[in-house]
Amino acid sequence: MMDALACRDLHKSFGLTHALRGANLSVSAGEVLAVMGPSGSGKSTLLQCLAGILTPDSGEVSLDGMRVDLLGDDRRTRLRRTIFGFVFQFGQLVAELPVAENIALPLLLAGDRRRAALSAARDWLPRLGLDGLHDRLPGDLSGGQAQRVAIARALIAGPRVLFADEPTGALDSVAADQVMEVLMDEVRAQGTCVVMVTHEPRVAAYADRTVTVRDGRVVHPAREWESV
Ligand SMILES: Nc1ncnc2c1ncn2[C@@H]1O[C@H](COP(=O)(O)OP(=O)(O)OP(=O)(O)O)[C@@H](O)[C@H]1O
Ligand SMILES: [Mg+2]
Repeated sequence: MMDALACRDLHKSFGLTHALRGANLSVSAGEVLAVMGPSGSGKSTLLQCLAGILTPDSGEVSLDGMRVDLLGDDRRTRLRRTIFGFVFQFGQLVAELPVAENIALPLLLAGDRRRAALSAARDWLPRLGLDGLHDRLPGDLSGGQAQRVAIARALIAGPRVLFADEPTGALDSVAADQVMEVLMDEVRAQGTCVVMVTHEPRVAAYADRTVTVRDGRVVHPAREWESV
């Protein structure tokens, strides 16, 4: 399988804190990867370097062989909007916008017509178990419903890679399972690659593979960069 996403010898410091100390990772196209490890070990920093949100101090990040870490700000922003999707612990929905408009946002930002974008957004609702909620404001949703809306928003534009940082971190186990089932159905259907940080073994169990980050390194990848 071809590597969708890879990093080699990533280093990233914040002042005196060495958050990443030589992290290596590669993810295949369509693979769902869980990233676990202790608090403060560098998981979120790794995810943000892979996603082009943070620039590493040294090392390489590549997407289909293209060096993400060398791209200028404009091209990285475009990459984040078009090729990548994001879900965070708290869905970061726009509080003033109803559900359908939140889901449609990536399409509207990409310049799609409003009616087509909202219609596409509404098509997602039954698949997510959110029937009839298109007019709701985010503040009137349960945590699990809000995360399913965030997943739809992250996937509606058909990203190659979905980055998720503790997507179920604020949910109970029943809501977490609902969110993960919806997420897995959709990424399997679209062939989306997923990099998902989680503290919960129950959530990591949905992934094809789990790696652990410890002290700024990926300590047991199934495959090393060198062997690819
Ligand atoms: N913007 C920042 N400024 C300063 N220090 C930071 C910043 N971001 C992360 N760090 C530090 O870098 C280290 C790694 O942080 P990171 O957020 O990657 O850990 P994590 O594994 O995601 O932890 P958690 O499981 O608690 O989310 C920590 O010591 C953290 O305090
Ligand atoms: Mg984190």
